[in-house]
Amino acid sequence: MKQQLEEIKQRALQALDGASSPAALEELRVKLLGKKGELTAVLKQMGKLSAEERPVMGQLANAVRASIEDKLEQRKTELHAAALKAKLQAETIDVTIPGTPVSMGHQHPMNKALQEAKDIFVGMGYTVVDGPEVELADYNFTRLNIEPGHPSRDRSDTFYFDDGDQVLLRTQTSPMQIRVMEKTKPPIRIVAPGRVYRKDEADATHSPMFHQIEGLVVDEGITMGDLKGALETLIKRLYGEDAVIRFRPHHFPFTEPSCEVDMQCFKCHGTGEFDGHVCSTCHGEGWIELLGAGMVHPDVLEGCGIDSKKYSGFAFGIGLERMAMGRMRINDMRLLFDNDVRFLSQF
Ligand code: DAH
Repeated sequence: MKQQLEEIKQRALQALDGASSPAALEELRVKLLGKKGELTAVLKQMGKLSAEERPVMGQLANAVRASIEDKLEQRKTELHAAALKAKLQAETIDVTIPGTPVSMGHQHPMNKALQEAKDIFVGMGYTVVDGPEVELADYNFTRLNIEPGHPSRDRSDTFYFDDGDQVLLRTQTSPMQIRVMEKTKPPIRIVAPGRVYRKDEADATHSPMFHQIEGLVVDEGITMGDLKGALETLIKRLYGEDAVIRFRPHHFPFTEPSCEVDMQCFKCHGTGEFDGHVCSTCHGEGWIELLGAGMVHPDVLEGCGIDSKKYSGFAFGIGLERMAMGRMRINDMRLLFDNDVRFLSQF
């Protein structure tokens, strides 16, 4: 039996030395020390030994068991260390390899144009305010004097959220006039830039999402002269002192009187022709439409609790894309939204 135990020990230690993975180690542990293991089988025969031999063999068996256990533990540690070493070697970083360069970006041309316009208005004492893009029909239309059945309310023009056509994506920034006037007493002097949405097919001059800047001034004694002064200041700051503009009568339900403001085409200088062809920027018109404006309708003032006998005001709505396109000589609106870095990096 002594010899048997010695053999078991020799074979076990050899096998453990040869084990190359934690799984192989575990398999050996069961085989060597488990209930059905060789050592257990030998111990079961202890009963057949004489009373003198039994403690000697018992001691020897325990010693064999202890050395197998020690070896198991040792191999476990060795395998773990080897695995860690291999992992570290596989994952070494060469810190001397040059890094991937990170190129500096800059503001999108639309944000540049917006920032310019904001700066000009803030310089004239306006406050910049923000409002919701998901708007009530009440603010977007009704309280701006836009009656039920007006074509701009049509589902083919406006994105609605509900069957009752009460909640929509704002089609203009003008609802901000109502939101400001119902909360603030005059004097009021604000601009409200933001996104607006219409069911338009995208082409060179249209997009289903675009930006406007709404302006509103309400105080005692405000006249059309103040409106002209403010808009002329804006346009000359943006396009230069020699920019030529005209005020053309127009109709908006929420202003009376109303006008549109055009700028003489910067490409053909109002002739409508360029290089013997119809000017592509103004389509031969000689003028580029920049914005809509007017004197706030007395009904709109009264609807917000402002006394129209005491106060008057002007309002305007500028298309920001158009403003940016004119400012940066961009001829297709879609370029502003494609986000092609080759295009954007030119500005
Ligand atoms: N909201 C108008 C539009 O989207 C633009 C506009 C016209 C705004 C006249 C105004 C205004 O504030 O007075 O076409």
